Amino acid sequence: MKEPTTLPGLEATQLTARYGPLEALHATDLHVSTGELVAILGPNGAGKSTLLRRIMGLVQGEGTVSFNGEPLPGSDPRRCTMRGVILVPEGRGIFGPMTVHENLDLGAYLAGGNKEEINNRLDRVFNLFPRLKDRRKQLGGSLSGGEQQMLAIGRGLMAAPKLLLLDEPSLGLAPRLAEEILATLGTLNQSGLSVLLVEQKAPLALKLAKRAYLLSVGRVVAEVTPDQIQSPRDLARYYLATA
Ligand SMILES: Nc1ncnc2c1ncn2[C@@H]1O[C@H](COP(=O)(O)OP(=O)(O)O)[C@@H](O)[C@H]1O
Ligand SMILES: [Mg+2]
Repeated sequence: MKEPTTLPGLEATQLTARYGPLEALHATDLHVSTGELVAILGPNGAGKSTLLRRIMGLVQGEGTVSFNGEPLPGSDPRRCTMRGVILVPEGRGIFGPMTVHENLDLGAYLAGGNKEEINNRLDRVFNLFPRLKDRRKQLGGSLSGGEQQMLAIGRGLMAAPKLLLLDEPSLGLAPRLAEEILATLGTLNQSGLSVLLVEQKAPLALKLAKRAYLLSVGRVVAEVTPDQIQSPRDLARYYLATA
């Protein structure tokens, strides 16, 4: 009998990204296997957001990205989304003048699916984030920071992701709320979703991730496991040794 084959997930090879003359990401390799939760850690300006945006085709550069064995077009964010690679962007990017429900519907729009599938996804989002259910008729702009982050993740989930890319979901949140949001990502990962999580708060991310890439000044300077990072000093040592 043939063994079931596991899809290879995300594979990025020699990725670069540039903003005009500035190369913000230098020849980066990384992979996220199916079902993995991988973190990208690094200080402000290291190129973390640029890396996610390069994977999505939102910024141009050299190198290749493939998902489940097929190339992701480097300049077509819409096709990435349709293939199930979904970005929850830095700053959340929710639509303030639209209701919570309308924001979630927008997430479903690109992925498509019939009404029943979309309703199932909506139920799942409301189960994960009951606060969104309570506030579904409220305007996005009237939500607290934590609720807006839940909405941004919820909108990503409405797009039926196979791989969710998250850009600093804990940014600006009180510690307990940040922990709650990250714990929810852990739950999603346990249910089979692959996750690539960008975080500055290493201890939070390393509670969830079994593997992390450390980014400094536009390149991956190390790939680590949580046991290698016991304190902020360990992180600093990696960043400084190679910056
Ligand atoms: N739209 C842009 N135009 C020009 N330079 C940019 C732009 N976005 C980011 N950069 C630069 O690219 C580098 C990496 O930024 P970024 O990816 O946002 O880092 P991080 O997310 O790790 O804080 C920084 O030097 C930043 O100034
Ligand atoms: Mg960033």
